[in-house]
Amino acid sequence: MKIPPVKGTRDFYPPEMAVRNWIIDGWKKVSVRNGFEEYDGPIFEYLKMFQIKSGDEIVDQLFSLRDRGGRDLALRPEITPTLARMVNQRINSLPKPIKWFSVPRLFRAERPQKGRLREFFQWNIDIIGEDSPLADTEVIFTTVDYLREIGLTSKDIKVKVSSRELLADYLISLGIPEDKLESIYVILDKKDKLPSDTFEKILGEQIPDKNTVKKILDFMSVDSIPQLKDFVEEGSGAFLNVKCVLDNLDMMGVGDFCVYDPGIVRGLAYYTGIVFEVHDVASELRAICGGGRYDNLLQDFGGPPISGTGMGMGDAVLGILLEEKKLLQKQLPRRRLDFFLACVDEDNKEAAVKLTMKLRSAGFAANFSYKITKLGKQLKQASEQNAGKCIIIGDEFKDNKLAVKDMSSGEQELVDADEFLSGLMS
Ligand code: HAM
Repeated sequence: MKIPPVKGTRDFYPPEMAVRNWIIDGWKKVSVRNGFEEYDGPIFEYLKMFQIKSGDEIVDQLFSLRDRGGRDLALRPEITPTLARMVNQRINSLPKPIKWFSVPRLFRAERPQKGRLREFFQWNIDIIGEDSPLADTEVIFTTVDYLREIGLTSKDIKVKVSSRELLADYLISLGIPEDKLESIYVILDKKDKLPSDTFEKILGEQIPDKNTVKKILDFMSVDSIPQLKDFVEEGSGAFLNVKCVLDNLDMMGVGDFCVYDPGIVRGLAYYTGIVFEVHDVASELRAICGGGRYDNLLQDFGGPPISGTGMGMGDAVLGILLEEKKLLQKQLPRRRLDFFLACVDEDNKEAAVKLTMKLRSAGFAANFSYKITKLGKQLKQASEQNAGKCIIIGDEFKDNKLAVKDMSSGEQELVDADEFLSGLMS
C-alpha cells in the first residue's frame, strides 16, 4: 500500500533541505546581527491560547486534538501567543527591552494553494517592553535587512506600512462604535484579496451608510503621508507615530523599500498600532511577511500592560519569489566533500577506510567507496558528491604513496602518504 504525503505538507529531499537550511541560516544570522536572541516553545499548546486573541481566521484553521487526559490542545498556528505566555511567566526577571527571535514550525489547516501550506516555517522577531516607534522601525529594518541580504531589491519588494491606531481614530471620527472596530478590521484586511464588489457588499453589511463606506475607501487609497491631512489631525499621536517610523526607515537607509499604505490592516486581532506587510512589487503572491504592534496581548494573557511589536515571515512565499527571481541557485551552498577515497583493489580497502577516519577526525568531510568497482565509477561517485579531491589508493600504497586527483582541474599527482597527511594536519 502506497501512502501519499498529507495534503499541504512538504517532503524535504536533500535539495529542498538545502534551500530550507539556507533560508533559516540567513534568518538567524540577520536576527543575531540586529541584536535579537533566540527562543522557542512547545509545538502544541492549550487550544484556548489561540482562541483568545488570534482572530477567527486562525481559530478556523487550527489543528486541534484531545490528549488522553481530556485536555484540548492545538498545534501552534503562530508563536506570538506562546511568546506572550513565556514573557509573562518571567516578566520580573527578564531585562527589558526583550528582543527575541524564533523559527517555529507552524501548522494551519488552510486550503493549500500557492505559498500557503498546512505546515511551514516562520521567522519571528519581536521586541517587547519598548513603546518607542524606533522599536517598530527596528523590526521593519531587520526584515528588510534580511530580504536585501538575499538579493531582493526595492524593485522586487515593497514594505507597506500602516497604522491600526490611525485607522481606528478615523473610523471613530466617522461615528463607528469602538466595539465594532475589530470586526471591521477583518473585512478591511480582505480589500485586496476579494473582488471589489464582494468586498463592498460585505463592508456594506457592517456599515449600511454608503457615504461612510466611500470615506473609508478614500482613506484606504491614500498613498502618501501628506495626503492624510484631509482625513486625520496632523498632530495626533497615531499620525506622528507612523510618520516617525517612515522617517526613521529613511534615516536607517531602507526608505526606498518602504511606502505608506493604509490598505494594510492585518487579519490578526491583537494588533493595535503600526502594522506592515512585505509584498512582491508585481503583487502576484500573498504577503511575504507581516507584523505590527500589539499593546494588549501580554495583558490578555494575564500579564502586565506591556506592549510589543514584531513580525512573522514564512518560508513558502519567500521560496517562490526567490525561485522566480533566480536568486536561489546561485547562492545555495552545494553539498561538498573535501575528500573522496577510491580504492583500486580489495586489499587496500581497509587502508582507505582508516585514512577516511583520520581525515574526518581532523575535521575534513570525507567519504569512501563502499564497493571496489572500476576506478572510473568511483571517480564518478566522487564528482556526484562534489568532492574537492579524490584520493586513490592503488598499488603504490605498498611504497606509502597515494594518488591525489584535483576534481576541478583533473590534475593528479603521486604523493608520499605521511607527508600528505602531516601537511593537511599542520
Ligand atoms: P501572519 O500574517 O498570520 O502573522 O503570518 C505571517 C507570515 O507567515 C505570512 O505573511 C506568510 O509569509 C506566513 N504564513 C502564514 N500562513 C501561512 C501558511 N498557511 N503557509 C505558508 N506561510 C504562511 C503572524 O503569524 C504573526 N504572529 C506575526 C507576528 C509576530 N506579529 C507580531 N509578531
